[in-house]
Amino acid sequence: MPKNGAPDRNRRPATQLVRGGLTRSAFAETCEAIFMTSGYIYENAEQAERAFKGEEQRYIYSRYANPTVTMLETRLALLEGTRFCRATASGMAAVFASLISQLKAGDRVVASRALFGSCHYIINDLLPSYGIKTEFVGGTDLSQWKKALRRKTACVFLETPSNPTLEIIDLAAVAELAHKAGARLVVDNVFATPLLQKPIEFGADIVVYSTTKHMDGQGRGLGGAILGNDEAFFEDQLTPFFRHTGPSPSPFNAWLVLKGLETLDLRLRQHCANALSVARFLSDHKRVKRVLYPGLESHPQYALASAQMGGGGTVVAFEFRGGRKKAFRFLNGLAMVDISNNLGDTKSLITHPASTTHQRLTPQERSQMGITEGLVRLSVGLEDAEDITDDLDRALAKAGV
Ligand SMILES: Cc1ncc(COP(=O)(O)O)c(C=O)c1O
Repeated sequence: MPKNGAPDRNRRPATQLVRGGLTRSAFAETCEAIFMTSGYIYENAEQAERAFKGEEQRYIYSRYANPTVTMLETRLALLEGTRFCRATASGMAAVFASLISQLKAGDRVVASRALFGSCHYIINDLLPSYGIKTEFVGGTDLSQWKKALRRKTACVFLETPSNPTLEIIDLAAVAELAHKAGARLVVDNVFATPLLQKPIEFGADIVVYSTTKHMDGQGRGLGGAILGNDEAFFEDQLTPFFRHTGPSPSPFNAWLVLKGLETLDLRLRQHCANALSVARFLSDHKRVKRVLYPGLESHPQYALASAQMGGGGTVVAFEFRGGRKKAFRFLNGLAMVDISNNLGDTKSLITHPASTTHQRLTPQERSQMGITEGLVRLSVGLEDAEDITDDLDRALAKAGV
C-alpha cells in the first residue's frame, strides 16, 4: 500500500505545487488519479447512517467531496498557507459562493469599483435584489474606504490588481478598516496568483480564485477556489451552502488544475518576464498613449505593488488615441496574438474590455473604472517575447494609431 501521510506544511511552494495533497490509491499510481464517481458505497446501512450523522468521516457524494477534488483543495491550501480550501466549478462560482453563503437581507457590502464585469454584476445587481445593500468606492483612495467603512459592514470585496485597469489596492490598510467595521475582507487574487501575492498575510479573511486562469493556464477547463482560515465561515456557512446548492467542480476539471499547478511556478516566472518585456516595449512605442503594468515604475501605485506583490503579473493594459475604431483595427491586424477574453493562458490573448468583458456596464460606469474606448488588455503568454512584440509592432503600424 502506498504511504499516504499527513501533508507536510514545511515544504516550499515549488514542492507543494508538485506533491501537495497527493494521495495514492491501492494501485500505487504515480500520477494523481481521477475519481470520476458521483457516489460511494457503504458496507451496510448502519455505516451510511453514521456517515450522514457525521460520526464517520468518509466520502458520501461528490457534491459534498471527492478524492480528486480533495487533492486539489489540499494542494491549494498548502500553497496559500491556509487551513481551508473549497474548490468550485468556476471562478464566478467561487466569488458568488464566498459572498452569498455568509450574507443575508439587511447586510451591507462595500466593494472597490474596478472589478471584472461579472463580479460587478454580483455586487451591483444581484446582491441588492436580495435586500443586501452595496456600495462602491474608488479602491486606490483610502479616504473613500474610511468613509464607507464608518458604518457596520458584513463584507468587503476587492480585486488587486484589478481587471482590466490593474489598479493596486492597499490590502493591509483596507483589511484594518474592514475589521473595524466588523466585516470580513474577501480578495479576488486571480491576477496575482498565490505565487505573487498572499492576501491573508496582509489581513484578508477569504481569498478567491478562478483556477481557469494561470492555475490551469492552458485554456482547458473552468474552475475556482475559496481559501482562508476562518473556521466559522468555512465549517458553518460555506460547507452547508456547498452541500445543498452544488457549486462543486467535476473531478476531471479538478485533475486538470492539479496537473496545471505542477508547472505554475515555472510558467509564472516566464509569463512575468515576458509581460515586463512587452510592457517596456509598449512604453517606448510612439503610437501607444499609456501603458498600465504594476511592474513598471510609471504605474501609479508602483511602490505599493512592489511592497505587496512579488512581480508585476502577466497582464498588460494599454491605451492609444483614436478610441474603439482604432482599437478594433489594431486587434484585427494581429497575426499571432489571439483575440480572446480569457487570460493567464500559455498563448498571448488580447481583448477590448469596453466591448467584451465590461460591455454590459454603462459608459459612465466604465469611465469611472478607467475603461476607455481605446484601452486593450493583453494577457502575455509563453511565446518568445520578441515574437509577441514583433506582432504588436506590426499591428500598431497597420492600424496607423
Ligand atoms: C478577476 C476575475 N475574477 C473572476 C473571474 C471569473 O472566473 P471564471 O471565468 O473561471 O468564472 C475572472 C475571469 O475572467 C476574473 O478575471
